[in-house]
Amino acid sequence: MVLEVSGVEKRYFKLGREIGALKGVSLAVEPGRIVAVRGPSGSGKTTLLLIAGGLLRPDSGKVALDGSDIFGLPPEGRAALRSRSIGFVFQQYHLVPYLSVLDNIRLPALAMPTPDAMGRAKSLVERMGLSERARHTPSELSVGERQRVALARAMFNKPQFILADEPTGNLDDRNTEMVLNCLSEHTAGGGAVLMVTHDARAMKAAHVVYILEDGSLRAA
Ligand SMILES: Nc1ncnc2c1ncn2[C@@H]1O[C@H](COP(=O)(O)OP(=O)(O)OP(=O)(O)O)[C@@H](O)[C@H]1O
Ligand SMILES: [Mg+2]
Repeated sequence: MVLEVSGVEKRYFKLGREIGALKGVSLAVEPGRIVAVRGPSGSGKTTLLLIAGGLLRPDSGKVALDGSDIFGLPPEGRAALRSRSIGFVFQQYHLVPYLSVLDNIRLPALAMPTPDAMGRAKSLVERMGLSERARHTPSELSVGERQRVALARAMFNKPQFILADEPTGNLDDRNTEMVLNCLSEHTAGGGAVLMVTHDARAMKAAHVVYILEDGSLRAA
């Protein structure tokens, strides 16, 4: 599958003022590719990721998975497609505060049960180096540990696309490498990644790097 964003525009309105977040952005995320986007704070990176993931409707333009317009689907259809095909790592993680690490990771299985949800969650906990933290809740974790839980949750359903907002933003060298290895393995297996990053190592791992500035995208 190919994820295509074409001619996307998005404006926010706040207190009577208009903020042009995206001014006609197009990009394609192909199988086997890591696509990175960098740019100054407030340039629209998170907005672009949310739109590409079908979580925020653009004012104009299109987001298509293998040619089919995901915002043309009814909300339930779009949610089902998202949960099958897209794993999202949010900039603020959005972990459920009262659930353990294990339960946060297998959260997608609550919406769509899988036969061995617990086994899959446990193997991801191990892969992320969080075995000692499996029963902790997010407030009992370091920021970097929360970040790894968020990535594990995004990977849980084995989606084709991982969309990640600064996935190495709070990690030390060893964990940065581990996360980048996870993303590279994901693409080696035919998956694809669209990530926002400022990390030089993450950009090096990417096949394509774009710069988003003032709502417009250009090649780095
Ligand atoms: N829900 C909203 N309502 C109004 N304005 C918003 C909203 N979300 C974002 N904005 C504004 O739109 C612009 C783009 O925001 P966005 O979060 O996409 O930036 P970003 O590039 O991800 O920044 P950062 O690097 O700080 O995370 C900013 O000026 C922001 O203040
Ligand atoms: Mg952001």
